[in-house]
Amino acid sequence: MMSKYIKSPLNYTGGKYKILDSIIPCFPKNIGTFIDLFGGGFNVGINVKAKSIVYNDHNLFLSQMFEYFQKEGTNVIDKIYSRIKEFSLSIDNIDGYLTLRSEYNKTKNILDLFILTCYSFNHQIRFNSRHEFNTPFGKMRSEYNKTIEENLINFLKALQSKNIKFYSKDFTFLYNMDLGENDFVYADPPYLISNASYNDGKRGFKNWGGNEEEQLLELLDYLNCKNVKFALSNVLVHKGLENTKLIGWSKKYNVKHIEKSYNNSSYQRKNKDKETQEVLICNYKL
Ligand SMILES: C[S@@+](CC[C@H](N)C(=O)[O-])C[C@H]1O[C@@H](n2cnc3c(N)ncnc32)[C@H](O)[C@@H]1O
Repeated sequence: MMSKYIKSPLNYTGGKYKILDSIIPCFPKNIGTFIDLFGGGFNVGINVKAKSIVYNDHNLFLSQMFEYFQKEGTNVIDKIYSRIKEFSLSIDNIDGYLTLRSEYNKTKNILDLFILTCYSFNHQIRFNSRHEFNTPFGKMRSEYNKTIEENLINFLKALQSKNIKFYSKDFTFLYNMDLGENDFVYADPPYLISNASYNDGKRGFKNWGGNEEEQLLELLDYLNCKNVKFALSNVLVHKGLENTKLIGWSKKYNVKHIEKSYNNSSYQRKNKDKETQEVLICNYKL
């Protein structure tokens, strides 16, 4: 069955594809500019209807990749095949993968980065502090396949049919944007209390800590004062750990609890201490 949502071609840790059906129907109608402030794999923004869309992520390699995809459209498919052939990439050719990885770290060819994520362990995008791509090979598990290609083609078509701009800034750039009542900000930052799901950590970029979280909550309060609507994805509780600051802050706004299918499973009942409460916190009526 065809999904009603477009899936990012990047299998992005923290990606919201699986819960889009709980998030997108909560967004306001008739959006002027939609801002995907922590765009990541762009699972959310790509599925939103708005006059214009802003993708932002401080990881500049992502915004460069999506901008390149937008320019090239489906032309990239042939280019991917010729690169796969050139480096004899396959599900078990580690040498081909490592050769392309060193080549990428020298040239920073944008398409090569995408190809590497197709063959990397868990399809992860991870960089060291020198911004060299360092994810290991996904031996016998990862390869460019028809599912990735299908997602990619749908994604490329959507990129070209929508009015999207790409930024790679720290989220605080929003203070410099002139936003009005019809604009809408979606914030999906790294989750302070569930860094484990970010098992590749900061991916070579600035880490997320208490200061960043505080700055973000301040920014959202500022947007609220300006009558700009926002929605924040986060977890109030994760594996028994509570984000008490966020819980307190959220009381000013409307909180929608996101049900995940595993919430009622016997595993979940037996592991009450491992409970996770995923939420969408909005400054408008749901
Ligand atoms: C949970 S992921 C977003 C996933 C995305 N919504 C999706 O569905 O694919 C959070 C993103 O925030 C980005 N990020 C972390 N700190 C940031 C900052 N200070 N400014 C902008 N982006 C940041 C990370 O690079 C990461 O891609």
